[in-house]
Amino acid sequence: MRRPPEQADIAIALHGITKRFPGVVANSDVDLTIRRGTVHAIVGENGAGKSTLMKILYGMLKPDEGTITVDGRTATFGSPAAAIAAGIGMVHQHFMLADNLSVLENVVLGGEPRQRGGLDFRAARARIEQISATYGLQVEPDRLVEELGVGERQRVEICKVLYRGARILILDEPTAVLVPQEVDELFGNLRDLKAEGLTILFISHKLDEVLAVADEITVIRRGSTVASVTPHEVTAPQLAELMVGSALPVPELRESTVTDRPVLEVSDLAVTDPDGRHVLSAISFTIHAGEVLGIAGVEGNGQAELVDALMGVRPISSGTVALSGHDITRSSTRSRREAGMAYIPEDRHRQGLLLEASIWENRVLGHQTVAPSARGLLLNRRAARADTQRIVREYDVRTPGIDVVASALSGGNQQKLIVGREMTGRSVALIAAHPTRGVDVGAQAAIWEHMRAARRAGLAVLLVSADLEELIGMSDSLAVILRGRLVARFDPKTVKPEQLGSAMTGAGASAGAGGAV
Ligand SMILES: Nc1ncnc2c1ncn2[C@@H]1O[C@H](COP(=O)(O)OP(=O)(O)O)[C@@H](O)[C@H]1O
Ligand SMILES: [Mg+2]
Repeated sequence: MRRPPEQADIAIALHGITKRFPGVVANSDVDLTIRRGTVHAIVGENGAGKSTLMKILYGMLKPDEGTITVDGRTATFGSPAAAIAAGIGMVHQHFMLADNLSVLENVVLGGEPRQRGGLDFRAARARIEQISATYGLQVEPDRLVEELGVGERQRVEICKVLYRGARILILDEPTAVLVPQEVDELFGNLRDLKAEGLTILFISHKLDEVLAVADEITVIRRGSTVASVTPHEVTAPQLAELMVGSALPVPELRESTVTDRPVLEVSDLAVTDPDGRHVLSAISFTIHAGEVLGIAGVEGNGQAELVDALMGVRPISSGTVALSGHDITRSSTRSRREAGMAYIPEDRHRQGLLLEASIWENRVLGHQTVAPSARGLLLNRRAARADTQRIVREYDVRTPGIDVVASALSGGNQQKLIVGREMTGRSVALIAAHPTRGVDVGAQAAIWEHMRAARRAGLAVLLVSADLEELIGMSDSLAVILRGRLVARFDPKTVKPEQLGSAMTGAGASAGAGGAV
């Protein structure tokens, strides 16, 4: 058993924190005690209230109720500047560096040592080098931030916070943007920071990470703390159950349904952006009926452009795309849909739904020319409404009715509506871009089940995802995209996440087990 912490051991204590937003209670009577010199993980599902709680601690949001004590003294932070003055620093989920400035400039911006009115860059550089050496944070002061990979940008952010004198570090989902090797490196840094006496608040929803790096774990569910445990006291499944209130679903394919009938054939596809730069080059693959091809990659390496090109949203500069043997390279999005391409878009708000339109009208969106929504050239309103009822039932879309506007549904229910709409009709191929991103675990399990059903029904599925576990679990075959090219192929049954990580970052590309494609 843990002994109760002495006052002197406690870096931060939050008592009875409540924060309401219109329509939601983001934090409800949260208590949290953080011991000095520990890594304390906060875990919880998407929307559980983790970021809100951290923003309150960092002075970005004011709590409606509750108190914060830092080093035994009651604190009220009216701004991040006040939190920084109290030794608290935060690295946000989305980085906030200026791309066109150097690492050195970014670190010192707003906190410069001055000398006769000017910036003393020599002193600043010396301090950065000292921070870098003390905590094993590899950074190159003179590089431009825009040239850096994600892992190094994150180190710069951490460096910046330390430069301002933080002794308590909040990292909001720092691993969400990292590949496995970078995660290991970050965890090494966290251990070094802890060894130097710093206190770290580490936010995540990935349980294996939390169990690997945390000294204590606080679980938040629907805005309330449900448990505070040490990694020795719990197993991953127990933690999952605390987090979601039930066991976590896992992505997995059972028997293979892959056939030898090619459905989606892409050959030597290239796409250039308006400036004439190649955003996709030499992309070739074939997806057979009943097969899921997963595309892994660090975001921004051409995934979005590939999906757009396949859906006819973005012009193809060379190469061909064929669906069931018919060339659709120059076809419109509508005729691709009519030919059987189903599409789950990455951004369901911009591309998937009209948020201000009703659910049944969203059912028709993009499908106004195909049965059952169409009758000749006319919209068959009755049939469309009836089919919407069917989708709501079969896909478990939680809604008071089909006349409700789409914006009233939670993210998971919006996504189930899209999946239901796309899986109807006579689809032969499915392009799924991040189908479970940002949805709750219940909806995630449902969407995975529908994708398996699509595959069993003989659809050719292209799955683009940033979630490696989902990719490995749901794919029959995996390809890695890097700088607009498919650079490696892997068998999901045998691939290690580290191998994917190497291929995704271009490190040791030749050493990978995957052959070139
Ligand atoms: N600025 C805001 N305005 C309104 N609602 C918000 C705001 N920030 C967060 N929320 C809501 O508060 C809840 C908790 O969100 P958040 O703290 O971001 O969760 P987490 O970081 O655990 O994913 C969610 O329902 C979210 O939609
Ligand atoms: Mg968050």
